Amino acid sequence: MSKDTKKMTSAFGCPVGNDLNTVTAGERGPALMQDVHLLEKLAHFDRERIPERVVHAKGAGAYGYFEVTADVTKYTKAAFLSEVGKKTEVFARFSTVGGEKGSADCERDPRGFALKFYTEDGNYDMTGNNTPVFFIRDPLKFPDFIHTQKRDPLTNLKSPTMAWDFWSLTPESMHQVTILFSDRGTPATYRNMNGYSSHTYKWYNAKGEYFWVQYHFKTDQGIRNLTGPESDAMRGKDPDHATRDLFNAIEAGDYPSWTLEMQILTPERARDFKWDILDITKVWPHSEVPPITVGKLVLNRNPENYFAEVEQAAFNPSNLVPGIGVSPDKMLQGRLFSYHDTHLHRLGPNYHLIPVNQAKNAPENNYQRDGNMRVDKNGGSGPNYWPNSFDGPAPDNVSVEPDIPIEGVGQRHEFNHPNDDFVQPGTLYSVVMTDQDRANLVNNIVGNMETVPQPIQLRQCALFYLTHEDYGARVAQGLGLDMAEVKRLAAMTQEERVAATSIK
Ligand code: NDP
Ligand code: HEM
Repeated sequence: MSKDTKKMTSAFGCPVGNDLNTVTAGERGPALMQDVHLLEKLAHFDRERIPERVVHAKGAGAYGYFEVTADVTKYTKAAFLSEVGKKTEVFARFSTVGGEKGSADCERDPRGFALKFYTEDGNYDMTGNNTPVFFIRDPLKFPDFIHTQKRDPLTNLKSPTMAWDFWSLTPESMHQVTILFSDRGTPATYRNMNGYSSHTYKWYNAKGEYFWVQYHFKTDQGIRNLTGPESDAMRGKDPDHATRDLFNAIEAGDYPSWTLEMQILTPERARDFKWDILDITKVWPHSEVPPITVGKLVLNRNPENYFAEVEQAAFNPSNLVPGIGVSPDKMLQGRLFSYHDTHLHRLGPNYHLIPVNQAKNAPENNYQRDGNMRVDKNGGSGPNYWPNSFDGPAPDNVSVEPDIPIEGVGQRHEFNHPNDDFVQPGTLYSVVMTDQDRANLVNNIVGNMETVPQPIQLRQCALFYLTHEDYGARVAQGLGLDMAEVKRLAAMTQEERVAATSIK
């Protein structure tokens, strides 16, 4: 051993003399309990796995910074957005959604786009996706929807039948389904996709005025996607291609960046706005709410240890700083519960002390104490209750938000607004997409739906037809369906359609 080699020790710092041969009774004899090094090593190994994320299990992360490029102080008092040129350290994690931790990066899936801003007012998390919309708009449907993206309870196989059954019974999914089955459902890399808040959030300024906002992080590398066949080939060639690409680009000094554009609506305009701003299945058309450029996100440092920094990273839409709040969007409200709750299960009650999750630029000051793995000073000798007379931390009304008027009857309300769920995906199909985009969309859908029972194919094709006649006709043709039957189903209400396509 050279004099510079570090000495191996036990977990408690005691020297380890031999790490190749277990202590046995005689050369071929059984192992002895007194080999405490073996016991420690095996016991630690036995506990190496923590629960993987219930969704977004496969992902890659990197550090960087966010720089403000425009004055937005008339919209928000967020300290990290207070000055042009101001930089804030960020940790980002990109992910697929439905697959397990070992699944392929190229799977057709939305991609998670999660950012943690280490601001001087504490951590702000923008936990978004690479799509501006989502499949559902009520949190009560989320566990069911996710079950359809996971494995069939009988076969333990992924099941297009489960997915299309759910989507065809959930017409508000059409917008996101159309994006998912376009080539944007298989981004070429994490660097070549946009990130969206998807939900509406609230910004409020120092005067107490508030605004409804949506975030769009537009890739400076340009959008690049894999076609269906390219993505299938990638699964065999390199199942970790996006993880590898992000790591290698940053290692090579080719730092990816995104330009933050915000859509901003006053409460007055939002009230009369054509689209329901609390409906995550809708976008705000750019022509009606032109985005304004606000800043730049740059990723320039790879984590040094994947488990410590990426696997243990915990994002949460409820990590908010003064100047930024939530909207009454009930999906978002459901998320405000779910993330902290799942982190308590996945990482434990003191997950906020794991370095990647710590508020690096703001001290943690409260009266929460103890619990498993409380590895900091635990509040030291300071008081552990509030109110107290001993100069303990006191609430500060800087985070009190402006009032927003809310009223109504407590009830399980259905979404009740005049917006048609098919108009925006119809525009996407007929106006935004190119001929090639449409051809790939139809091929991707047909390939995925081939094994789905025909009543479900018909029910779904009626929804495609309602979105755009050409869309419905081409998928129906690809699946060899009777077009007259698709049209008959399209003319029905969703309730009638479901009854007419029962597979019982
Ligand atoms: P615009 O023409 O102003 O914007 C179209 C948007 O569509 C661009 O942001 C573009 O993103 C994006 N886009 C292009 N191809 C695809 C695709 N295959 N899948 C998903 N998005 C794509 O139109 P509007 O604002 O009036 O919106 C029209 C439709 O565009 C919407 O119904 C929606 O489906 C889609 N869209 C709208 C967004 C919005 O916030 N308004 C955001 C993203 C999509 P890029 O610039 O990155 O190429
Ligand atoms: C991860 C719940 C909707 C983006 C997660 C996790 C849960 C969850 C439990 C795992 C977190 C972890 O273990 O660390 C929900 C619920 C939703 C919802 C209940 C709806 C009611 C959404 C939407 C978006 C989104 C609409 C995007 C706009 C993400 C991202 C991650 C994630 C990016 C991964 C974060 C990371 O990289 O660690 N979600 N989610 N989710 N969710 Fe959601």
